[in-house]
Amino acid sequence: MSREPAPDRALVADPTPETGAPTSALARGPRHVAIIMDGNGRWAQARGRPRLFGHHAGARRVGEIVQACPALGVKYLTIFAFSTENWKRTQAEVAGLMSLFRRYIAKEMQVLAAKNVRVRFIGDRVRLDAKLILLMDQLEHETEGNDGTHLTIALNYGGRDEVARATKRLAQDVADGMLLPADVDEETLPKYLDTYVLPDPDLVIRTSGEARISNFLLWQSAYAEYEFIDTLWPDFTAEELSRLCQSYGARDRRFGAVPS
Ligand code: FPP
Repeated sequence: MSREPAPDRALVADPTPETGAPTSALARGPRHVAIIMDGNGRWAQARGRPRLFGHHAGARRVGEIVQACPALGVKYLTIFAFSTENWKRTQAEVAGLMSLFRRYIAKEMQVLAAKNVRVRFIGDRVRLDAKLILLMDQLEHETEGNDGTHLTIALNYGGRDEVARATKRLAQDVADGMLLPADVDEETLPKYLDTYVLPDPDLVIRTSGEARISNFLLWQSAYAEYEFIDTLWPDFTAEELSRLCQSYGARDRRFGAVPS
């Protein structure tokens, strides 16, 4: 997989949304929102339906949330679709999810491209099937010229796995004489992460009432604000996202400093 050049960090940290003249509310809102989309299974069970029914309902939610981002000043949206731990589910559920991802990409490709969404995938592709990988490549390629919402889909993603893979490549660069051990610091390591072109998330949301981060963006979320909400993912709406963005705007992020 070819890697895009790493951007100037000062550029990605620019707080001005490219959605027209920013209002003060937009300027205070999160620029990068990351979501752990949890609760599909319980949503389906509550309706007496199989778990995959919930995953399909969850997939339909994604479009509405992506569309809501520009008006909220959210330039980057990262969603957790499948974790490195989700392989522990039944073979039927895993196969159903993989089939859903293939269908979703094939169906949404033109829509996302037309809506100026730039799609990227993070995670380890090695365990994914060839057809899915091809579709992922196509979607990234189709949307690579877009500069609207940056949608990142975490698929076979785990934060620890990502750090391990990054460290392996970093160690190789050291072994090859491209990097000195003394030069490895907090600026260097993130350049080896899957998310190297993205700013860190400002706000991480987890639906379904569970208050844990489940191996999601471990390095990147060190200073993120968190929202754990009871809504099950298939019931999550643009209005709820808007409310969470507003409440984020009222938070005092200090990054370890004293209040100003
Ligand atoms: C967690 O709910 C959800 C998942 C493991 C899958 C997330 C996938 C989607 C929302 C659908 C598709 C996404 C895209 C990008 C097409 P759970 O099954 O753990 O729910 P539970 O905790 O109620 O059992």
